[in-house]
Amino acid sequence: MSIRKPYYITTPIYYPSGNPHIGHCYTTLACDVVARLKRMQGYDVMFLTGLDEHGQKIEKKAQEEGVTPQQYVDEIAKKFVKLWETMGITYDRFIRTTDPYHVESVQKIFEDLYKKGYIYKNEYKGKYCTPCESFWTESQLVDGKCPDCGREVTDASEEAYFFKLSEFAPKLEALLLDEERNFLEPKSRVNEMINNFIKPGLQDLCVSRTSFKWGIPVTFDDNHIVYVWIDALSNYISALGYQNSTYDDFTKFWPADMHVMAKEIIRFHSLIWPAMLMALDLPLPKKIYGHGWITFGGGKMSKSSGNVIDPFILADRYGIDSLRYHLLREMPFGADCPYTNETMFNRINTDLANDLGNLVSRTVAMVEKYFGGTLLEESEAKEIDNELISMTDALYDAVISDFETLHIADGLDKIFKVIARANKYIDENEPWKLAKDEAQKVRLSTVLYNLLDTVRRCSILLTPVMPHICPEIFEQIGADETCTNLESANVSGALKKNVTVKKGRVLFPRIDVEKEIAELEALSSKPVEEEDDGQPLEPLKENCVFDDFMKLDLRAGKILSCEKVKKSDKLLCFQIDDGFGGRQILSGIAKYYEPEELVGKVVAFVANFPPRKMMGLESNGMILSCKFGDGFKVVELDPATKPGSDIG
Ligand code: MSP
Repeated sequence: MSIRKPYYITTPIYYPSGNPHIGHCYTTLACDVVARLKRMQGYDVMFLTGLDEHGQKIEKKAQEEGVTPQQYVDEIAKKFVKLWETMGITYDRFIRTTDPYHVESVQKIFEDLYKKGYIYKNEYKGKYCTPCESFWTESQLVDGKCPDCGREVTDASEEAYFFKLSEFAPKLEALLLDEERNFLEPKSRVNEMINNFIKPGLQDLCVSRTSFKWGIPVTFDDNHIVYVWIDALSNYISALGYQNSTYDDFTKFWPADMHVMAKEIIRFHSLIWPAMLMALDLPLPKKIYGHGWITFGGGKMSKSSGNVIDPFILADRYGIDSLRYHLLREMPFGADCPYTNETMFNRINTDLANDLGNLVSRTVAMVEKYFGGTLLEESEAKEIDNELISMTDALYDAVISDFETLHIADGLDKIFKVIARANKYIDENEPWKLAKDEAQKVRLSTVLYNLLDTVRRCSILLTPVMPHICPEIFEQIGADETCTNLESANVSGALKKNVTVKKGRVLFPRIDVEKEIAELEALSSKPVEEEDDGQPLEPLKENCVFDDFMKLDLRAGKILSCEKVKKSDKLLCFQIDDGFGGRQILSGIAKYYEPEELVGKVVAFVANFPPRKMMGLESNGMILSCKFGDGFKVVELDPATKPGSDIG
């Protein structure tokens, strides 16, 4: 009996602090594609996803809703599970950090690190942002505020345990620079980690808290709970049974083949996680992939833009596979990708309805019309067939390699180039003309056969992305299980020559873009952000006197240019026409915009703050922004407002 090779892939464990959204779908879908592909290759796959359920934010939200934190996360957990079911996600294990086995593992891991001297007790001092549960150093603040959410921070100190992260700096640098090992992809992130975090000096990491209770208790010190990253990162091994008796898969699946995530948490996975594993004397994961963000720039997610992005609604209206295809096709590896419904509709119409759907339905219809549904046994090849066949031959290795390395959009692009080539092959061969000549019957059968076989080979490779539609395609083109396994995508002519086709439903109905957008707007009579963001409003502040307000010089400014600040995930650098010759302002809103979106907007800014240096650049003022969903949007004024106009 042959033993199947193990393959272990993970998503991050998501915070159940709000409902799941399209953003969460991308990582989980990408992992699902790899997991499905690996299963098709015969691997014994463990695909792990789950939820990161502890923390002050959850504790607070639960309190606001008058439920216990456990009740709160239980409700949201159901929605994540439902979403993954809707999206056809084939995870093998779903971990929740409140699962008793995980708690047991984390407590043992913490104890172990303490006994080995990698965790020690000290005092933590810093600037604390309560909503983000984050301590920051002075230099990390943006405009004196939390660099993540822009809110006020307070001075705080507390007794805490620390993990000796600093000790691992040389080993981490060597790990990241090891060309052969290629630990972190895309490579551009390697320099970012080294220059932004290792070179400036890695700080020891605060790994316990006394200021709130919703966490895993430190077994040897009652006042403390384990704080965030030791709890969260350990999920990748606790879910396999490391330091618990619930599962027994650690030896089989560890080290992980791939941890997948978006760019904002690469830092934790490529520095803290390997350091923790080194401290525990455990092997390191083979690879860490950090992809870009799906962005919703430009006021989307609202009724006015008609951009309903509730994945349940989208999957229900346009089909799971179309949604899966769109998300995976649009996202270039490593870069961000804006989401709009319109792009999705156009993508569905061109790639799926026009190219793939039409190819299948035209070909099947011709086989029915000219051959009563069954092709001939004989065949007659011609030179003109070679290009289509050799292009299809080249797909197998290329697409598998693209999918395995998470370049899923590239793999899909290659497949759809072949589909486009097949459509062209129909026009070149004009089957309707061949059909008029009885002497061309065998040639006609061969042309249609080549088309069916190309559809077969492409659809096998598309199966990890569109697992529900591809079996329907196989049925329509008469491809049975003997020629639809993965390897047979690499075999030209595996479909039997006298195949019988079976016309089926229209696979991808065309979308009337304008009409759909209008209908989605009507559907979202309530703006989605009201339903989904779940964020409480900031409490009203104490009264302040008019004179204090008047000290602020608020002005209108026109954005002349806007660029990302090098080495900063947060900062954008603006050149503003302020009506007085211009000025430069930095603002920590890089996460919420593509810089070019902002150029030309007229915004409100504080004009009389003293100059301040951030990341080596001077900022002369503060652009006002307003909370929007999980992020912020600049306060925009009428575009005709004269730059420099006084606000007040
Ligand atoms: N709980 C931590 C992760 C701990 S892993 C040991 C966390 N949770 S999160 O809910 O904020 O999830 C972040 C992850 O969700 C991202 O890294 C990414 O995988 C996914 N995404 C959430 N929004 C996204 C987009 N808009 N675009 C792409 N992926 C996004 O961080």
